[in-house]
Amino acid sequence: MKVILYMAISLNGMIAKSDDDTSWISKEEWDSYSLAVRNAGCLIVGHRTYNILTKQPEFSEFKDVKLVVVSQKDFQTLASNHLVAHSPKAALKLLSNFEQVIVAGGGMLNASFLEENLVDEIFIDIEPIILGKGISLFRDKDFECNLKLVGQKKMSDSEVQLHYKVIK
Ligand SMILES: NC(=O)c1ccc[n+]([C@@H]2O[C@H](COP(=O)([O-])OP(=O)(O)OC[C@H]3O[C@@H](n4cnc5c(N)ncnc54)[C@H](OP(=O)(O)O)[C@@H]3O)[C@@H](O)[C@H]2O)c1
Repeated sequence: MKVILYMAISLNGMIAKSDDDTSWISKEEWDSYSLAVRNAGCLIVGHRTYNILTKQPEFSEFKDVKLVVVSQKDFQTLASNHLVAHSPKAALKLLSNFEQVIVAGGGMLNASFLEENLVDEIFIDIEPIILGKGISLFRDKDFECNLKLVGQKKMSDSEVQLHYKVIK
């Protein structure tokens, strides 16, 4: 199983404004992310991201995607193909029959996956904006991770995608 972290960031590494606003992320970026998720057939997100993502109209594109929410709590999910896992490793275990797994935020969940050395590849879409304050790509954990750049492409007139392999 290949574990892929897929995120959109500001030039300075923010994934949302402090009030969770992500309206600065482009339609092109959403389409690219959505395609990656639908191709993989599964997605792992943190509890805060789940609450936000599932309220977006575009979320209907993921109706056939198996989604695992990572949380320390037990709660009712919104659909039968949405499961709760209490840790990143438990989330991966629930998806062990998939060839690729997309991990997509938020900052707290991303940091947990990296800290536990569970990520194989990273796709980062850089939006043309700098946010003085906000939620960072990796939040509240102290770890180091070495990367190899394996691809880069221009997604639109003002967006770039970077593709890394995690050196383990
Ligand atoms: N730019 C992008 O591509 C992108 C993508 C996704 C999300 N976002 C944004 O990111 C923001 C949310 O990020 P966030 O860092 O605040 O929250 P988050 O990572 O989405 O969720 C945090 C919650 O997830 C659970 N969690 C995370 N790591 C865990 C672990 N190791 N074990 C058990 N539970 C764990 C906990 O839930 P419990 O408290 O229930 O235990 C924790 O409070 C939102 O604004 C969202 O819109 C942006």
